[in-house]
Amino acid sequence: MKVIISKISSDFKTIVTGLFEDDKSISDYGILQGKQVIDNIKQFSNFNGSFGEFFSITSPEGKNIIVVGLGKKDEWNENKELNIGGKIYCELSRLKIKKAAILIEGNSANIAYGAFLRSFKFDKYKTKKDEKIVEVEEIAVLAKDEQLSDAEKLFECLRQEGEGIFFARSLITEPPNVLYPESYADRIKDELAKLGLEIEVLDKKQMEKENMGALLGVAQGSSKEPKLVIIKWDGTEKKEKPIAFVGKGITFDTGGISLKPSRGMESMKYDMAGSAAVVGVMHALAGRKAKVNAIGVVALAENAVDGNAQRPSDVVTSMSGQTIEVLNTDAEGRLILADALWYTQDRFSPKFIIDLATLTGAIVVALGNNEYAGLFSNNDELANNLIDAGIEVNEKLWRFPMNEAYDKIIDSPIADVQNIAPAGSGGDSITAAQFLQRFVNNVCWAHLDIAGSAWHEKGTDISPKGAVGFGIRLLNKLVEKYYEVNS
Ligand code: BES
Ligand code: MN
Ligand code: ZN
Repeated sequence: MKVIISKISSDFKTIVTGLFEDDKSISDYGILQGKQVIDNIKQFSNFNGSFGEFFSITSPEGKNIIVVGLGKKDEWNENKELNIGGKIYCELSRLKIKKAAILIEGNSANIAYGAFLRSFKFDKYKTKKDEKIVEVEEIAVLAKDEQLSDAEKLFECLRQEGEGIFFARSLITEPPNVLYPESYADRIKDELAKLGLEIEVLDKKQMEKENMGALLGVAQGSSKEPKLVIIKWDGTEKKEKPIAFVGKGITFDTGGISLKPSRGMESMKYDMAGSAAVVGVMHALAGRKAKVNAIGVVALAENAVDGNAQRPSDVVTSMSGQTIEVLNTDAEGRLILADALWYTQDRFSPKFIIDLATLTGAIVVALGNNEYAGLFSNNDELANNLIDAGIEVNEKLWRFPMNEAYDKIIDSPIADVQNIAPAGSGGDSITAAQFLQRFVNNVCWAHLDIAGSAWHEKGTDISPKGAVGFGIRLLNKLVEKYYEVNS
């Protein structure tokens, strides 16, 4: 679908306008008879402008006018603008309208962006077109002359982030027979190299040389070789320390010998959503030429089970030198991250590392689905900045405690650490984070457990059912707000 910002014009047959709950008028920008519209609505309905409700009339000039409720004026904000854009897209789609203009007081770029984000489609494996579906082809969000160029610029910038989100959603949605470590690494190269990002791929041999025994142990039960992809963005002087994002990229998680139950196992194709968020945010940073040096590291492996698969009770040696007793092969995310985190701090000495991972089912239990992701950190400033950025873009975080008491229960009797806490300990998401912390070497670090927020069964105003791309808007905002060099 094409979304554009356009100057005010009456060339459109369908115009979507907005009404605040507490307002008696709509702004008509001289192309609608606002008062008449309101009078007509009153004649037929009690429609009062509550958020996201729709009402349609035909204007005296014969135009199709769709009025959307904008809710209370003093609650109107950027996220509402995005959400209303998404809701309008859905309504147009429901009404089978191919082309429409949006004429709403507020930031046109945000409204356009919301519509764009909601329009994501993944239908490449459908061989027949659904005749009942009429696709929205074009939405033009109108802006006054004096706002036009600013709105266009902002939308261009937001769209760069949007492209990153669409790329991430496609990766997450791809079936695991198509997207496995090698093909995933190729997709990253193909899509990101053209944006000026530098891509490096470590293969199994190089991992062996780096002594990444934890990552290799997870991958050894699969016929697919693991890959570690390093994505570099230099947006400012070389001497600036980079910031780093690390992502869990399990392209399918069977659980290994600690096999998962069949029911619901199919959802484990999204066990690479953390890595997709890292890829997406690197895409966004390069797309908008962010003034920051950033490193993205994604650990890609399949957690499968064959005759060579690692066994519960195996001991592996991680790149850090620490030995790990693998008591449960389904706690594999922390194993691949152990080596990815160590590698990242060791090679790049970053200002901070933020990792994203669909790490524990327990975080879904703790937070419920979708609204929040779990936050764990060894640094209050980084944690608070993340929480702030999350509130701004409505990708909310909830911080969990970490301390020695949680840490000591993962000491292993025969190795340095074990990959799960003893049965009945509870707090699985926290012990998982404690495990990761042992591999960050005291670097400033935060971990986001996105197991509950990466995939949405119903969809949201700005994301259709399925892959959300959670974390990309959050991290892009974090960088923009706190870590970009001014010039
Ligand atoms: N990939 C799963 C976590 C997950 C669960 C992601 C639900 C998305 C939705 C992870 O590898 C896993 O299996 N974790 C185990 C850890 C346990 C063995 C300590 C879990 O949560 O059950
Ligand atoms: Mn698992
Ligand atoms: Zn997993």
